[in-house]
Amino acid sequence: MADNFDPGGQIFRARTALPDLAATGALGQAVAAGLKRGDAVALWGDLGVGKTTLARAILRALGVTGEVPSPTFTIVQSYETPALLVSHYDLYRLKSPREMAELGFEDALDQGAVLVEWPERAPEALPPDTLHIRLTLNDGARIARFTGPAHWQEILHV
Ligand SMILES: Nc1ncnc2c1ncn2[C@@H]1O[C@H](COP(=O)(O)OP(=O)(O)OP(=O)(O)O)[C@@H](O)[C@H]1O
Ligand SMILES: [Mg+2]
Repeated sequence: MADNFDPGGQIFRARTALPDLAATGALGQAVAAGLKRGDAVALWGDLGVGKTTLARAILRALGVTGEVPSPTFTIVQSYETPALLVSHYDLYRLKSPREMAELGFEDALDQGAVLVEWPERAPEALPPDTLHIRLTLNDGARIARFTGPAHWQEILHV
């Protein structure tokens, strides 16, 4: 079966260049505009590729004005934004996917939206309708690749 087999046309795939911080900011605004309770956004990509920068852009667009630290050590940081509770996870230091229960991942999805850096540490925890954003950096060029439910296509305009 081809990798992009999608009989019902339910899956959205796209890519966009992120040449500068302004581009990441604009993408953050677009994601924020479509984010609803129960949504998960998985931010894939190597060390330093820009995952936290995009998570921050999403949180800023949702009205978070204070500091947005990288939750590398706390693993999760939650934000009560005017529209939505948003939990920002960084699973880099997760020792086992079993820790996701202690970290309140299910509750975070029940009560709001989640942004997940290093999703490969607990891929099974992600809901099936996760929006996957894979960031790459090659010779100074940053690219974001998207896979997820079709409704994101109209929201992201990419
Ligand atoms: N679109 C962009 N254009 C230029 N610089 C960027 C862009 N996105 C991120 N950066 C820069 O890349 C650096 C690393 O970004 P960031 O901390 O977001 O990466 P990360 O993927 O979260 O890293 P980690 O794997 O450590 O969590 C920062 O200095 C940030 O300003
Ligand atoms: Mg990070």
